Amino acid sequence: MKGIILAGGSGTRLFPITIAVSKQLLPVYDKPMIYYPLSVLMLAGIKDILIITTPHDQVSFKKLLGDGTELGCNFQYAIQEQPTGLAEAFIIGEKFIDKEKVALVLGDNIFYGNGLVNLLRSKINIEGASIFAYPVKDPERYGVVEFDDNKKVKSIEEKPAKPKSKFAIPGLYFYDNKVVEYAKKVKPSDRGEKEISTINKMYMEAGNLEVGEMTRGMSWFDTGTVESLDDATEFIRVLQNRQSTMIGCIEEVAYLSKFIRKPDLKKLSKKYGKSNYGKYLKQLSDSII
Ligand code: DAU
Repeated sequence: MKGIILAGGSGTRLFPITIAVSKQLLPVYDKPMIYYPLSVLMLAGIKDILIITTPHDQVSFKKLLGDGTELGCNFQYAIQEQPTGLAEAFIIGEKFIDKEKVALVLGDNIFYGNGLVNLLRSKINIEGASIFAYPVKDPERYGVVEFDDNKKVKSIEEKPAKPKSKFAIPGLYFYDNKVVEYAKKVKPSDRGEKEISTINKMYMEAGNLEVGEMTRGMSWFDTGTVESLDDATEFIRVLQNRQSTMIGCIEEVAYLSKFIRKPDLKKLSKKYGKSNYGKYLKQLSDSII
């Protein structure tokens, strides 16, 4: 399975912070935002990853992440000229996806919790599509999924004024290769975007959509507003300091996923200088027997 991180967009809800800097490069506590969704794909066991950015931000992402070799991965980059919708990821990424299945994660989504790795790994061989439902207080901000009494998906709507359920669809999607064909058929919505929800509806209508509920043990943040970005930062800070383990540490994830070995980890720790992130990696590599 291949992976795509969608890290473009205009970030207008975070202006003036994102006038000169890409949203997905902003810090979420002690690391750039993109480290979190990137680590989610890597935890799923995905090594081939396409990073889609705006034309002007690509150079910064390349500087930050390179070609992925040092993490035992293969990172490629593509440009989205205008932020005309999430469904475009599969058109921009058509050549990259080739004949494989593909997971899409939004560059501003953070996932953490019990059982996440097993959940992710169970989606790698998906036929059809697999998405998630997460109960929230403000479903109107998201794609919303409604279930019938038998827990079967009844409807999917993008940012409905009157949501039919409390279940938001988080920005993590697993698809078979049909997604490319579906993406080409998506027409812009009333707000002028090619919506990912339209693709999910196509899978639903074909009877090929699986929706898994993310349970209480799982935390999901969409960091698209100042408040949610601040919440995510606070969450990561408190958890990391309490548990003395890092969330979204891509080198640790590369090691745990067996993409790299202990000596590689030691070498990588030097890249981060005297920062706490670098110290954490050094301690980690020293503690491995
Ligand atoms: O966070 C989950 C939600 O993400 C889903 O529930 C919605 O169904 C989905 O449409 C999306 O809604 P948002 O309004 O939060 O999407 P946003 O415009 O914030 O874009 C999400 C990420 O994708 C963000 O990192 C920017 C990037 N992006 C966005 C667009 C529209 C792109 O790279 N290109 C784009 O064209």
